[in-house]
Amino acid sequence: MDVGSTARTAGRIRVAEPVLDAEDRRAVIETLASGWVSGYGPEVEGFERDFAAWCGATHGVATTSGTTALHLALAALDLGPGDEVILPTLTIVSVWNAVRLVGATPVLCDVDPGTWNLDPDAVEAAVTARTRAVVAVHLYGLPCDVEALRAVTDTRGITLVKDAAEAHGATYRGARAGSLGGLACFSFFANKLITCGEGGMVVTSDDGVAERLRDLADLDRRRGARAYEHRGLGFNYRMPALAAALGRSQLRRIDSFLARRRRTAAQYAHGLGSVPGLTFQALPHGVTSSHWMCGVRVDEAFGETAERLARRIGEEGIDTRPFFLPMHRQPFFGSGKDSFPVAEDLGDRGLLLPSGNQLTDDDVARVIAAVIGEG
Ligand SMILES: Cc1ncc(COP(=O)(O)O)c(C=O)c1O
Repeated sequence: MDVGSTARTAGRIRVAEPVLDAEDRRAVIETLASGWVSGYGPEVEGFERDFAAWCGATHGVATTSGTTALHLALAALDLGPGDEVILPTLTIVSVWNAVRLVGATPVLCDVDPGTWNLDPDAVEAAVTARTRAVVAVHLYGLPCDVEALRAVTDTRGITLVKDAAEAHGATYRGARAGSLGGLACFSFFANKLITCGEGGMVVTSDDGVAERLRDLADLDRRRGARAYEHRGLGFNYRMPALAAALGRSQLRRIDSFLARRRRTAAQYAHGLGSVPGLTFQALPHGVTSSHWMCGVRVDEAFGETAERLARRIGEEGIDTRPFFLPMHRQPFFGSGKDSFPVAEDLGDRGLLLPSGNQLTDDDVARVIAAVIGEG
């Protein structure tokens, strides 16, 4: 592969592919040659330090995935049976699983019809005496309404955990995701703003929490403790150095990846923003999105369902994805009577358009033309 090339299949426009270059390969090979291949050493520490600093936070604790970052964050809060954790129903199953894995009870909430993020009023209504944490997902890269959520959590001693897996570089009132206080969990899966292959990180500026996260990710072994001495139930969630080397190399180009994602979003807004029946995620004042994914809600006025649109442009070589299947509609949830109309509507009508780092202006123009039937 040449510099800047991707694993793309000839001619087909994928939703998101990583852009890997010669520097990335050199970083991984040099780390391999150094002998530091496991979850300790200078590359892991360097990636933690560099990514946390880029976010504007003090500490980063690297993990094996965004899913394990979420589990680690909730475990570090010492949540357990009897505790309730509020989360949006419109999200990835990783959030639900993290709550279940610590033994706490997930409490679902609906999302806002404009931003598609957790609705602070719904959160307020869901709080009980047992609520210990809220996991707020910055859906598709758009920061949630942190101030309104804090108004609910801070006064009640509830911890607000941010799922920033999709929100690298997104800002809320000028502050990057990861620097908004508390704990923020990132993913470095292949389709994210930067990738480690697989990987995640919990970012915080709280020294005590950072230490707890670090110990728990290392089988609950204190730094400097006697070998094989463990304080409690921990995990091996250490990010391998080879993955950290790739992530650290990618981090050097994150600003250009962010610029590409924002350019794609601007192209879609320009080309599709006034098409009847298509609605994009609202961008509230004072907030910038990472535009990890450009999602569109497709309603009757478009003349075609999201599913049919996906099939039609798929035949023209353009991939799409549906929105997340809400948690209360998952097979594991059973057939309860829970109803979250906004999330259900978005789950049925939402479509993610190609949004990845690999796209060119021409690719996005081709998607726009295909969506409006000029492809
Ligand atoms: C909002 C959100 N949270 C968590 C995750 C989990 O990250 P990972 O795939 O690295 O486990 C993802 C992954 O796509 C995500 O989109």
